[in-house]
Amino acid sequence: MNNPFREDLVSRNKPEPCTVVIFGATGDLAHRKLVPAIYNLSVDGELPADVKIVGFARREKSDEVFRDGLAELNRQVSRNGHDEEVWDRFAENIHYHQSTFDDLDGYKRLAERLDAIDAERGGKGNRLFYLSIAPEFFDDVLEKLKEVGLNEAADGCWARVIVEKPFGKDLASARHLNQVVNNTFDEADTYRIDHYLGKETAQNIMVLRFANAIYEPLWNNQHIDHIEISCAEHLGMEGGRGGYYDTAGALRDMIQNHLLQLLSLVAMEPPTDLSADAVRDEKVKVIRALRQLDTPEKVAANTVRAQYTEGFINGDNVLGYRQEDRVNPESQTETYVAIKAFVDTWRWSGVPFFIRVGKRLPKKATEISVHFKNVPNVLFNQLGGSPPSENVLVIRIQPDEGISLRMNSKLPGAAIRMEPVKMNFQYSTSFGKSSPEAYERLLLDSMAGDATLFARRDEVEEAWKFVDHIQNAWHNSGQVPMAEYAAGTWGPNEADDLIESEGTDWRRF
Ligand code: BG6
Repeated sequence: MNNPFREDLVSRNKPEPCTVVIFGATGDLAHRKLVPAIYNLSVDGELPADVKIVGFARREKSDEVFRDGLAELNRQVSRNGHDEEVWDRFAENIHYHQSTFDDLDGYKRLAERLDAIDAERGGKGNRLFYLSIAPEFFDDVLEKLKEVGLNEAADGCWARVIVEKPFGKDLASARHLNQVVNNTFDEADTYRIDHYLGKETAQNIMVLRFANAIYEPLWNNQHIDHIEISCAEHLGMEGGRGGYYDTAGALRDMIQNHLLQLLSLVAMEPPTDLSADAVRDEKVKVIRALRQLDTPEKVAANTVRAQYTEGFINGDNVLGYRQEDRVNPESQTETYVAIKAFVDTWRWSGVPFFIRVGKRLPKKATEISVHFKNVPNVLFNQLGGSPPSENVLVIRIQPDEGISLRMNSKLPGAAIRMEPVKMNFQYSTSFGKSSPEAYERLLLDSMAGDATLFARRDEVEEAWKFVDHIQNAWHNSGQVPMAEYAAGTWGPNEADDLIESEGTDWRRF
């Protein structure tokens, strides 16, 4: 173990040798995230030597051209830098396989190729199929894998599938996808990826809550006033992303998956053990307990949707959403969402969870802030001045990963005057090393057969149930108008009104 962040792996299963087949290998995700993640794992000595990559995609390409394209991106994004010699050795294990997704012959050739790779290893092997493709191709790819028998593993080996988001566009399509996936692979071999669960700080939520004595007794409606989960991005629709985004929107793109996953980690009960199912059993209970916004009136009272208009990011003039490349000029797709949600359990009864997410906000930051109730104002009020501030525990998911706690302290001097101060923990200074990329951890876990950090079928479907009510009311009731905010600002006034209705305001960060 040469990486201090990986001590946990000692108690986990070890990744096993396998061939990773990436469908959609010429895409951005494969180039920017997946292959660099495998490269970095290999540089850190986390992978068994025998991990091979086969890129499956439609375009004609040789192995060499494919490897060169991957190297170019790896030079730009690799966490451990890019060493040409190390890369060259690593790249010998990368192959390209050209086929369209609906060509059975292409899959037969793939099966032969995988057998040949296994034979070089001296036997049968494990296979990890990564679907980094648009959901409309899932049916084709899964059916064909089944037709040529690639979903079945040889004795003593495994065949698993990793499915990228978006996992459906509503509950009905998610159920259909789940059915298609589970017709081909067992649920136990299905890994639905949500890269937020691979973030070090998201994983730390359980440790913070359940490995420290001081938080859990306060972690309930007796002591917590409200919780905020915010995800701000300064990016807009760069790199032609508008085409996909305009069919999705912030609710489906971020809230259905990433933010509801964070919410479930913050609100879950302690699991009975750390097994994948014990953890996911508790998470799904939270999502199931979300109060459903099942009428347009409830949606109107508890949600805000908005689009950015022209504005300034870091001093640069940027376009409004409807002027972006590949976006419908009359688009009704939201780039910002704020929701007031309630988790109707004994622990959380009456505690609002404010969730907000937006593109083209002033900076990139994701954080969860837990706002504790104020102390009774019956002591220091005798001194005049403002009452003590509430205690706020901030879990910074990114960037500047860490945790801070706001407390009140006496200002030095003869008089009793108070000022809020912060206790701050930063991963970078405490551990002296940057956290691994989320995809590294998730790929490693899928090779080790650990699905804890992947979404289970019922979690995904429960999240869609909650989101579908909102989606339907927005698009069919005419009761929730699209608000606006200028790019580079913190979102629309309507979102401020939403949180102010509970007597508080959004945390500035
Ligand atoms: C992706 C969304 O899942 O997450 C993107 O599709 C978003 O729209 C991205 O930008 C944010 O991820 P991160 O890790 O940069 O916060």
